[in-house]
Amino acid sequence: LNNGLALTPQMGWNSWNFFACNINETLIRETADALVSTGLAELGYNYVNIDDCWSNMKRDVKGQLQPDSKNFPSGIKALADYVHKKGLYLGIYSDAGVFTCQVRPGSLYHESDDAKLFASWGVDYLKYDNCFNLGIKPIERYPPMRDALNATGRKIFYSLCEWGEDDPALWAGNVGNSWRTTDDITDTWESMTTIADLNDKWASYAGPGGWNDPDMLEVGNGGMTYAEYRSHFSIWALMKAPLLIGCDVRNMTSQTFEILSNKEVIAVNQDPLGVQGRKIYAEGTKNCSQVWAGPLSGKQVAVVLWNRCSDVVNISADLGLLGLDKTAQHSVRDLWSHTTLSENVVGSLTAQVQVHDCKMYTLTPTSSVYTS
Ligand code: DGJ
Repeated sequence: LNNGLALTPQMGWNSWNFFACNINETLIRETADALVSTGLAELGYNYVNIDDCWSNMKRDVKGQLQPDSKNFPSGIKALADYVHKKGLYLGIYSDAGVFTCQVRPGSLYHESDDAKLFASWGVDYLKYDNCFNLGIKPIERYPPMRDALNATGRKIFYSLCEWGEDDPALWAGNVGNSWRTTDDITDTWESMTTIADLNDKWASYAGPGGWNDPDMLEVGNGGMTYAEYRSHFSIWALMKAPLLIGCDVRNMTSQTFEILSNKEVIAVNQDPLGVQGRKIYAEGTKNCSQVWAGPLSGKQVAVVLWNRCSDVVNISADLGLLGLDKTAQHSVRDLWSHTTLSENVVGSLTAQVQVHDCKMYTLTPTSSVYTS
């Protein structure tokens, strides 16, 4: 969507994956504090997004949405002011249906009123869900909120959450700044790998202004191993997915923090070229040895060697298949060990990869080939 936002994928935090409906204004303020004090905000995680359950069960007498009076007694404007003072943005949630998934009032047929209200509160981001949609197609229900947000004159990031219904990559490019390509993620290896493959299918439709959204990060929520979370984060970064943290950032382990704060991996996600990396090829049992890659600005290429097998494997990336000159030398930066390999590579790059782990590199051409 050409509204000046999402030139690179959005980064921040969202309450749903860890807290579900157990949210309140203290949590939101403490999360904003933690994003700043840990340094995550400075690394780019600047949206603090409240998901479902912030609102009262009913609209007020004037028909306006109102925050849950017990959990958000100071109101959303006060929270927006609080996070803005910290240099962050506030996101809110509604639904393109008559109720949200947790049965709070939805915004279908209230688009203009609700968009005005969000703008008056100083909201910077809207995630727009798909429950209780009366069977009307997303392509009819999502544009009215785009127009309503636009009419407020406030820049509001518009995140479609239509769960991949009706192949949004095909129509959402001028509707939203990102669109969900799949059902909800869960905190399991099975869910994460399945979603990665589904999202990959739509790679060519992503770009500055509009991104495929394979759902929020589960890193730090406990259902996967360190290696699996590292793979999850690497592939989401490479796929130019939104990097929306889904854990409790007030209580992260050092491993969780190490993954989420990896500057070099974040730089791949936020590269200005904005081309979604994709699965280049796969081999082995059930195609479990995989090479994912995508171009970056400055003639660089980002590569993930991903071991989805149940044994340690050697994985080889053919530089020609990555779009590089097979005869040229390339320097290799390892984005997880933060070292540049001592030898340049020509032709291919091979590494041993632990079970469910990955290696992530950037390749930079260092020489041109001279022919006489
Ligand atoms: C479904 C969405 O896909 C989730 O991300 C979350 O927003 C829930 N609804 C909230 O009810």
